[in-house]
Amino acid sequence: MPATIAVVGTGYVGLTTGAYLAHLGHRVICADVVADKVERLSRGELPIVESGLDELVTEGLATQRLSFVLGAAGAVADAEFVFLCVPTPQGEDGSADLSYVRQAARDIAGHLTPECIVINKSTVPVGSTRVVEEAIGRDDVFVVSNPEFLREGSAVHDCLHPDRIVIGSDDQAVAMRVAGLFEALRAPLVITDPASAETIKYASNAFLATKVSFVNALANVCEAVGADVNEVVLGMGHDRRIGFEFLKPGPGWGGSCFPKDTRAMVRIAEDAGYDFGLLRGVIAVNDEQYERMVEKVEHMVGGSLDGCTVAAWGLTFKARTDDLRDSPAIEVIRRLQGRGAVVRAYDPTVKATAAGGAAAARLAGIEVGADPYAVCEGADVAVVLTEWDELRWLDFAKVAELMAEPRIVDTRNLLDAPLLRRLGFAYRGVGRMG
Ligand SMILES: NC(=O)c1ccc[n+]([C@@H]2O[C@H](COP(=O)([O-])OP(=O)(O)OC[C@H]3O[C@@H](n4cnc5c(N)ncnc54)[C@H](O)[C@@H]3O)[C@@H](O)[C@H]2O)c1
Repeated sequence: MPATIAVVGTGYVGLTTGAYLAHLGHRVICADVVADKVERLSRGELPIVESGLDELVTEGLATQRLSFVLGAAGAVADAEFVFLCVPTPQGEDGSADLSYVRQAARDIAGHLTPECIVINKSTVPVGSTRVVEEAIGRDDVFVVSNPEFLREGSAVHDCLHPDRIVIGSDDQAVAMRVAGLFEALRAPLVITDPASAETIKYASNAFLATKVSFVNALANVCEAVGADVNEVVLGMGHDRRIGFEFLKPGPGWGGSCFPKDTRAMVRIAEDAGYDFGLLRGVIAVNDEQYERMVEKVEHMVGGSLDGCTVAAWGLTFKARTDDLRDSPAIEVIRRLQGRGAVVRAYDPTVKATAAGGAAAARLAGIEVGADPYAVCEGADVAVVLTEWDELRWLDFAKVAELMAEPRIVDTRNLLDAPLLRRLGFAYRGVGRMG
């Protein structure tokens, strides 16, 4: 049955949620506090890069099942369901900052219809369902937890084909009403209590970060003993208890979720009296990994980066997104600059002139080039930092001609090493001698 839904926050999670729920036939009003964003979205202009989202928003606007308003209060008046999709950044002590969630709850409190269900999709620590209930302060409204597991870059696909849907509520009937919204997706349902639902999200991200840190640590061992991490992972992954997913070495994990969620998980455990040493180790390995990438580049240019020109390919935290939040690429670039390198960067989704607001601040002091070749002119070394597919198909003979020295450090093991060597490049990947 189509429902009337409000979505508070139109970022990666909120916009995708609103657009796909409208696609499923529901009537959805999305709210944000940023006027420019709301205006652009109402015209069908997307503020983010996300495959397939454009089409869903266009469809939603055309069918009038999807609309956008400024301010949460204006979205919830007729809503049977309200999704909270606001940020939960890292607080100063590592815990999740719930101020946006509290504010959004207060914004809507006086405007909700009786029997309305407020669904928290933001990633929040155990006890936050109660925090939202208190901020709303009404006993005729229900609050449930419904953590989101989408991956940026494939958010629409992940929402339409979820591995599972987790609903946390102490009221089975309320949980079933929420489950009804997703019926068409035919996904496995995990209906549980709010504390378990909230923990599932943090535990999932912490486990994924652990896999990446494990393979990065393994890559370091492989380099030391002369093994090839790609071969090792191939041999491991056939074991179905291990699998292949998320076992790719790289420059370290980052993005808008893993850094804050792993730290929040450590903090949640600490507050509860458990020292999550394993996860602290996972975070420490990740910090070391950034540094190892810098050392690789330093080694490649002969020991000192001072005065070297580095062409950086990639700025986003992974491919197929424009998200620069806590990007390992930027972390590595900052460290290269710290050692005296001049860095010129290229990324297919980042244009120097277009970057405004928070993106511009993240890029301050980094020269952004128009194409992957321009940044190579006179460069002492090129570094692959994001696994953009287009980088694999560059004209490397042309790259070699443009560079002062044909040298590549490939932190994603993306490129064809034998081909590059044939073209005269000095090439170094991660976790393998070749
Ligand atoms: N980005 C991801 O890949 C991802 C995946 C799963 C879960 N999450 C979680 O989902 C939540 C949202 O993440 P995101 O990446 O979509 O954030 P985002 O920063 O991209 O978007 C949040 C939006 O909320 C808006 N907002 C803030 N306060 C508001 C208010 N009171 N009323 C209306 N709008 C308001 C902001 O203006 C912004 O547009 C976070 O808790 C995050 O941890 C994110």
